[in-house]
Amino acid sequence: MLSVVVLISGGGSNLLALLKAAENPLYPVKIVAVGSDKDATGLEHAELFEVDTFVVEPERFTDRDQWGQTLLSNVLHHQPDLVVLAGFMKILPESFVSAFPGKLINTHPSLLPEFKGAHAVRDALQAGATRTGVTIHYVDAGVDTGEVIVQQEIAIVAGESEEQLHERIKGIERALLVKTVEQIALGKI
Ligand code: GRF
Repeated sequence: MLSVVVLISGGGSNLLALLKAAENPLYPVKIVAVGSDKDATGLEHAELFEVDTFVVEPERFTDRDQWGQTLLSNVLHHQPDLVVLAGFMKILPESFVSAFPGKLINTHPSLLPEFKGAHAVRDALQAGATRTGVTIHYVDAGVDTGEVIVQQEIAIVAGESEEQLHERIKGIERALLVKTVEQIALGKI
């Protein structure tokens, strides 16, 4: 059984997909805790599934490294085999990243290296792209620069809004994340 800590910042639909998958005894993953950098609405999913939560807000610290150390202590407390960033919108300090070599993954709504950063869906539309997608990748000290694990492409429909496109992306993203975490648990990745 792979022990997983998930970090979120928003609505947590990817988290919810993982929590639902982990309800199946045949899914080899246990979500042991969910953390956030704010009082994210997605934390409610963890509470409903009786999974521990923690919030470590950067605003409460004088510097980013101190915040990162406290976030790290909270994550390590749960002794995870894997840490999943599922819509976690803060950049982690190097000291946090280096604590999880090969054990820290992120899901991102574009085909990296295209459209890095917090506005990947908007940027794809503004660039006039005809296709985009999802990337699940290892996290390194850069922003959306770590080694790609898996990608899935989606065609952009002419005239669709950022919100519509992001919802369609999230549809494939949730399934890909659930499958990828399973593959990691089974040692296939
Ligand atoms: C996902 O598309 C993720 O890739 C991006 O933010 C979104 C989070 O969605 N960084 P949710 O909170 O899991 O619903």
